[in-house]
Amino acid sequence: MISISLLFATALLLAPSHASTLFPFEKIQLTREYIDTLPAEDAALFAFGNQTIESKAAVVRCRYAPDDGKWPSEKAWTKLSKQLSTPTALIKTVPQSAVCYPGTNVTDDAKCQQLTKGYQDWSTHVDDPTEVFAPIYQGLTCTPPAIYDSGGCTLGGYPSYVVKASTVLDIQLGINFARNDGVRLVVKNTGHDYTGKSAGLGALSIWTHGLKDIQYIESYVDGSGYKGPAFKAGAGVQVSELYKAASDRGVMVVGSDAQTVGIMGGYIQGGGYSPLSSSYGLAADQVLGFEIVTPIGEFVTANSTSNPDLFWALRGGGGGTFGVVTSVTVKAFKETTVTAASWSIDSTKVSVDRFWDAVRAFVDRFTVNADNGTYVKIQLTPNANGKDAIFTVQPLFAPGKTSKDVNALLSPYQSRLQSLNVPFSPKITEYKSFYAAWQSEFSTTSTNADIASVFGSRLFPRSNFESEIGRSTTFSVLREAVTTGHTATVINVAPTLARSGNPDNAVSPAWRGALLHAVVRRTWASKLSTADVLAARKSFEAGIMQKWRDVAPGSGAYLNEADRTEPNWQQSFWGDKYARLLAIKKDIDVKDVFWANNAVGSEGWFVENSSGLPDENGKLCRVGVTESSTTTRATVATPAVRAVRGLLRRADAVPTGAV
Ligand SMILES: Cc1cc2nc3c(=O)[nH]c(=O)nc-3n(C[C@H](O)[C@H](O)[C@H](O)COP(=O)(O)OP(=O)(O)OC[C@H]3O[C@@H](n4cnc5c(N)ncnc54)[C@H](O)[C@@H]3O)c2cc1C
Ligand SMILES: *[C@@H]1O[C@H](CO)[C@@H](O)[C@H](O)[C@H]1NC(C)=O
Ligand SMILES: *[C@@H]1O[C@H](CO)[C@@H](O)[C@H](O)[C@H]1NC(C)=O
Ligand SMILES: *[C@@H]1O[C@H](CO)[C@@H](O)[C@H](O)[C@H]1NC(C)=O
Ligand SMILES: *[C@@H]1O[C@H](CO)[C@@H](O)[C@H](O)[C@H]1NC(C)=O
Ligand SMILES: *[C@@H]1O[C@H](CO)[C@@H](O)[C@H](O)[C@H]1NC(C)=O
Repeated sequence: MISISLLFATALLLAPSHASTLFPFEKIQLTREYIDTLPAEDAALFAFGNQTIESKAAVVRCRYAPDDGKWPSEKAWTKLSKQLSTPTALIKTVPQSAVCYPGTNVTDDAKCQQLTKGYQDWSTHVDDPTEVFAPIYQGLTCTPPAIYDSGGCTLGGYPSYVVKASTVLDIQLGINFARNDGVRLVVKNTGHDYTGKSAGLGALSIWTHGLKDIQYIESYVDGSGYKGPAFKAGAGVQVSELYKAASDRGVMVVGSDAQTVGIMGGYIQGGGYSPLSSSYGLAADQVLGFEIVTPIGEFVTANSTSNPDLFWALRGGGGGTFGVVTSVTVKAFKETTVTAASWSIDSTKVSVDRFWDAVRAFVDRFTVNADNGTYVKIQLTPNANGKDAIFTVQPLFAPGKTSKDVNALLSPYQSRLQSLNVPFSPKITEYKSFYAAWQSEFSTTSTNADIASVFGSRLFPRSNFESEIGRSTTFSVLREAVTTGHTATVINVAPTLARSGNPDNAVSPAWRGALLHAVVRRTWASKLSTADVLAARKSFEAGIMQKWRDVAPGSGAYLNEADRTEPNWQQSFWGDKYARLLAIKKDIDVKDVFWANNAVGSEGWFVENSSGLPDENGKLCRVGVTESSTTTRATVATPAVRAVRGLLRRADAVPTGAV
């Protein structure tokens, strides 16, 4: 142990030259020199991607799972644990709901009751190493019985082990170990992903939630031209934490409306829309630079001059794909006044016809709303009787506007409602700051952990709202969603920077043309048979989702809030940017170390489910490879062998294609 820490101390002196801008946790790194000091057997576990050689480009059909004999030995896991920066960083998964089931070592009725009671709280999912917001995609193999009786408790789609990262070293070791030993790798930050992307049977998960450093740079000068306030924040920082830090300095940053989202994780890499987006663009548009550990285990900066392709891809290309980001530097803006308005219309209080006329009248306002820089969050909720519904705007959020401005903005709509004889008395509040407005306008105390629903979305383009017929057609499919029993969340936002132009990044062109991001959900009784779940999914996808796609052909969906089985997802999530994204992915991650459902480059693999359902409860296997073939574990050439060969060939450039 002592000699190891001494070696690290020496290794630290060799930190790269940009170290001055790094957080302390980013300065603790794994080095090639350290690997060279390890016995060969250990070096094989932890070596960098381009330090290892494979004997042959043999193809292993699936990532190893705990039960198939190729899984790393207990001894290997212990070795990993010992190399990590804290003795408790390696966590062996025990699903939190194990307390609810007899036969586990942790059965505890009181704890189970407490868990059941708090199951919809965000902290239940965020602060647990392996829990996700969408347990349905974990496979529901260990949930509180009162919520969903999983009939026992197995790991299912939960990862097997977690590296609770507190340093860059931990992340490098985790990536190298998984890659060198054929173990599936996933990344969890908060677990908000709607499709359970941070779950994965047999996976080693890297948990970034603890990386909470925040640094304010009052006058950041970027070589590419930006000069102004900025924040550098660790990958685990959540929206509420960064908003608070910004507000303390009289500035604001572009983040989500929900306080618990991991602003520097999947959110920003996937694009990230915000209550500020119609005025300032998407969160990804604000990025000045990333620090990231790549699939070969290397720690690099991605900004406009250092690894510019990676910088481009990380701004919209999606999380869990190109490496593990450790921190992000983003622009900040001077705080602004905000005015917010909220109201709701209930069809039981007017009439169903007048209700829909009133909704239709608001659809006519979408263009003007967005052009005034507003963000409008609308809920359309069907009533159980199948006929009535409620329309709620909560809120119309107008950065930089006074209440006078918002009254003027709403005035044509108000007149229209008057003529329809629909009462309208919005609550309008003017706030001095973005932070105050955000705190009181958005309530996010629960998660609605998804155990029984299917969810999809569509970006509706501006052109749909520019003609009477376009507005009518779009309105009619929104209405149809609700009259057929779905709930819809309709966000009227236009994240395109008309004046300055949009930065060149991987954000989907569909987002740039959009005026509406609309989400639709079908919920079912919790205990349906597999066949019935598949049928419900199919009728959702071929039914309402197809109708939505038909009125917005060629547009797309927001990758962070889309159906897990989105058809033609490459086009839908990235449009004509997909080809470049795929080329970057292939270049940086030759071995497909990073894989997430419907992420860039994920085509070559699938989850071999055991349930017949789309979820993470199965091994990750290669598409189109039928026979299982063996491979030799990665080995590291001794210095003598390296001398003979001159330089190592880059193992990460070894083709991993056909057998
Ligand atoms: C309640 C709620 C509200 C939401 N509100 C908004 C909103 O207002 N605007 C919006 O745009 N989206 C919103 N979303 C969607 C949100 O953007 C996604 O769920 C997003 O994936 C969350 O990122 P995360 O890092 O917090 O979550 P996680 O589920 O932990 O991660 C999401 C994905 O990113 C990967 N990832 C996470 N961290 C890293 C990292 N450091 N490096 C590499 N990969 C990483 C994970 O592997 C996973 O694939 C909301 C979601 C929920 C549940
Ligand atoms: C491995 O990659 C790193 C970073 O690109 C480079 O500095 C190093 O020389 C490479 N090593 C070998 C053996 O190719
Ligand atoms: C219970 O604990 C024993 C001893 O620590 C262990 O061998 C066993 O695998 C555990 N069982 C479960 C279900 O966790
Ligand atoms: C990008 O990062 C590198 C390394 O930290 C730094 O030297 C360079 O100045 C950065 N580029 C810009 C445009 O800021
Ligand atoms: C903003 O709203 C006002 C009031 O409805 C409207 O007259 C104006 O055209 C809108 N601005 C833009 C840029 O659309
Ligand atoms: C489940 O796995 C099988 C192969 O085992 C695959 O053919 C099928 O498409 C998968 N189903 C889903 C819904 O992912």
